[in-house]
Amino acid sequence: MNDEPLVIVERDGARRVALLRFNRPKQLNALNAQVMDELCRALEELDADETIRCMVVTGNERAFAAGADIGEMATASPIDMLRGNRIAQWDRVRRITKPVIAAVAGWCLGGGCELAMALDLIVAAESARFGQPEIELGVIPGAGGTQRLTRAVGKSRAMEMVLTGEPIDAREAHRLGLVTRVVPDELLVEDALALAAKIATKSPIATRLAKEAVNAAFEMDLTEGLAHERRLFYLLFASEDQKEGMAAFLEKRKPEFTGR
Ligand code: CAA
Repeated sequence: MNDEPLVIVERDGARRVALLRFNRPKQLNALNAQVMDELCRALEELDADETIRCMVVTGNERAFAAGADIGEMATASPIDMLRGNRIAQWDRVRRITKPVIAAVAGWCLGGGCELAMALDLIVAAESARFGQPEIELGVIPGAGGTQRLTRAVGKSRAMEMVLTGEPIDAREAHRLGLVTRVVPDELLVEDALALAAKIATKSPIATRLAKEAVNAAFEMDLTEGLAHERRLFYLLFASEDQKEGMAAFLEKRKPEFTGR
């Protein structure tokens, strides 16, 4: 194990947001087991922390993450892969209940792109490049790339990216709906944190169920999804935040959401 943290966490208590920054710059933030473990642990801790309502995950100006660590996998047998079950770490990220934003500059490839897509939304810097280059290594995306990229950008474009391994730039990722917006590199982190801070002003219970409901759109058919959404909507009427939100509207004042 490396002594230096490979994921640096900064909390902004006033805005109720946290920034998680990959810290493996020489390897372009390649996601080895330790990076993924630190990321998952930090996200799980923040998910349980009532003072934080939204998180941002970022890399540096050269790379969000250039993929799973190839050195760790190069000589692995199928049984090593199965026993290590590294890909389960991408599923751990999926179980976080608070919104998590990926702020992406530079390379966002392979497992890095799969990680960004497993988070809730992506803000891209002009320099961002998204791709699934696994085909160059004689494999295929293994942490959701064939599924989430296809849902995000459609079959033809996903097929081209997965079969050729060629990346797309930030503008194209935006045009295709993979990212919510593109900002100048120097503004990336502040823009993503400002978006997180805006989300953090909302009811934490409502944001949690909103996230759950939108994600359900990828898992359920329309009838099931609508029924699920309706149940979550009704459930929110048990919260103090619903009473506060609606009373504040009628009293023409700003709501104070407590997460109760
Ligand atoms: N794993 C391990 N090390 C990596 C890495 C990765 N995914 N990506 C980059 N690095 C390392 C390089 O080996 C290099 O290390 P050294 O300085 O010790 O040689 C260092 O990071 C810098 O990389 P480059 O010298 O290659 O930098 P570059 O600017 O010339 O190229 C790049 C940048 C195009 C991103 C290139 O590094 C690259 O192609 N990386 C691999 C991308 C990739 O194939 N990702 C998919 C991984 S498999 C996967 O993710 C499976 C899955 O679905 C879960």
